[in-house]
Amino acid sequence: MKKHRVAVYRKITFNAAHRLYRKDWTDAQNKAYFGLCANENYHGHNYRLDVKVTGEIDPETGYVIDIAELKKITDEEVMERFDHRNLNLDCPEFKNLNPTGENIVVVIYELLRRRIDPKYDLQVRLYETERNYFEYPA
Ligand code: NI
Repeated sequence: MKKHRVAVYRKITFNAAHRLYRKDWTDAQNKAYFGLCANENYHGHNYRLDVKVTGEIDPETGYVIDIAELKKITDEEVMERFDHRNLNLDCPEFKNLNPTGENIVVVIYELLRRRIDPKYDLQVRLYETERNYFEYPA
């Protein structure tokens, strides 16, 4: 029987605060480059994440991947780490990494990639707002 490759998506949402700045820049430099995102008292986003897993349909089960297992992985690697956190202060992943959408989407991809069988292709899309979103790998 012909093998069919199908993409399976899981969508999750989490809330987190962040501040964009470089420690080695002055306040004026940070404000000039990052604008309101450099606000020293942080600001929040309702992030949305689309996790895309692509693989062949298993002829025995009819699944590409068990979505319950995918949910468990996203709960553990994304929700438990980042939901209702201050990314700069609470999350070691961003202790020395500016928590831009670009960096967050790569960090999440790496966390998920370790947990998902290499036989699958993985792509992650992070929405910081409805209009601004980031995708990795590009
Ligand atoms: Ni922001």
